[in-house]
Order: sequence, then structure tokens, then C-alpha cells
Amino acid sequence: MKRCLGKFCEDTLYEGDALTLLPEIPGGSIDLIVTDPPFAIDFKAHRLNYNRTGSNVLEGYQEVPEAEYGDFTRQWILEAARVLSPTGSMYIFSGWNRLRDILEGIDAAGLTTVNHLIWKYQFGVFTKKKYVTSHYHILFVVKDPKHYTFNKIDHYPEDVWVINREYWKGRKKTPTKLPSELVKKILAYSSNPGDLVLDPFLGSGTVAVVAHDEGRHFLGFEVVPDYCDFARACVAGKAGKR
Ligand SMILES: C[S@@+](CC[C@H](N)C(=O)[O-])C[C@H]1O[C@@H](n2cnc3c(N)ncnc32)[C@H](O)[C@@H]1O
Repeated sequence: MKRCLGKFCEDTLYEGDALTLLPEIPGGSIDLIVTDPPFAIDFKAHRLNYNRTGSNVLEGYQEVPEAEYGDFTRQWILEAARVLSPTGSMYIFSGWNRLRDILEGIDAAGLTTVNHLIWKYQFGVFTKKKYVTSHYHILFVVKDPKHYTFNKIDHYPEDVWVINREYWKGRKKTPTKLPSELVKKILAYSSNPGDLVLDPFLGSGTVAVVAHDEGRHFLGFEVVPDYCDFARACVAGKAGKR
């Protein structure tokens, strides 16, 4: 039987605004949060981003207006910190352009940054007069710097990860899917089988799919109905790829 936390049951994905749903999760109940929040860079889902066929990209990606991004970020990170268990940790993805807001949100929530990881991928959006961005920042933060899960899998685990984005030839996808390999690495280091993993900004649901495959429980939110349906289908093995 599924365990429930207040109105939410584990291994379930909920459609709705993370800012409304996060406050309804009981405090201290989540072991790990892995999330790639919206970017506030006027991201266009249907653009031929990352060399993909535009017609295969699911439309509707919800952006946060630039002027609201600081408040939005502070609010959700504060709630994320509240729902983490005393030994809980969180991985937050960020592009370089809004990194300042994420770092300020982490400080305002009283979380401790353990590592500032760099994810290097194999291609970016074509540019004419500037360098092509081909990296992401991942902030690994914890509630209690003395007590948190860290399974030291490699002898020398470095903070720069080179992991390719996935090509989904001829298939439907959301525009910003994280590689499964990347999420798998995070789960291996920072969670154990049976732990509860939350992603409040699901997109295509990669975090939920990989958590499920790796024997972790999951919970997730997504505000765009089509994306939420797509994420549910991916978890059920009826869409996407693992
Ligand atoms: C960068 S994407 C996540 C991509 C995801 N990690 C994946 O692998 O597919 C961010 C997602 O957050 C969703 N979103 C934006 N605002 C939201 C909100 N207030 N509550 C919940 N989801 C939101 C967007 O629609 C988008 O799907």
C-alpha cells in the first residue's frame, strides 16, 4: 500500500503550482529533492533548441516572468528546506544567468552548500557573437552539514560531470529533459533504496522515472497539464525512454 504524507501519496505525480503544493507537504518528510526549476529566460519550448525537431517538442512549458524570479525562487527554496528531513539534501540545477537568485534563495533558507557542481554537455544553442553555453550549475545543498547521505561510490568523485544530453530521434519530448544518467548518478550518491525523492518542477518527469527504476519512492509536481500527463506516462513506461 502507498504511504501518504498529508494529502499526497508517494509514487504519485500531481498537476499544479509548486508554490501552492509545496506548503501542503508535511515538514521533514522528504529525503532528497532533485530539481531543475524554470529559468526565467523567456524560454520557447517550440524553438529548435539543442538541434531537435520543433514539431516533436511538447508545447506549453511554463516560464516565470523575469521580474518575479527572485521572489519565486526564494519562496520555493524556503518551502523545499522545510519539507526536507533533518538529514535531507537537495540538488538544484541552474543556468549561469539566474544563478544569483538561486544562491540567494539557498542562503535565505539557511541551507549549506556542500558542492557547486558543473555539468558539461555536448552541445548548446548556436551563437554568432558569443560563446556557446554548454554547461549547467548544480548546487548540492544540505540541511545539516554534519549529517547527510553521501555514498562515496568513486574513490575520487570530482565536481565536474561530463554527461551528454540525450537524442530522442523521432519521438515526443519536453524541451529541457535531463539525461537519465545524470539523475541516476545523483540518486546513487545522495539516496538509498526506499528513500522518498521529490521534484517540484517535473517537466518530463525524469527524476520520478529514474527514482522508480532505482528503487526509490518519488513525488512530483508539474503545472502544465500536458507535461504532467507525459511525465505520468513516462513513469508508467508508456512514453519517453529510460
Ligand atoms: C526546466 S523544466 C524541468 C525539466 C525536467 N527536469 C526534465 O527532465 O524534463 C521546468 C518545469 O517546471 C514547470 N513549471 C514552471 N512553473 C511551475 C510551477 N510554478 N509549479 C510547477 N511546475 C512549474 C515547467 O512547465 C517545466 O516543465
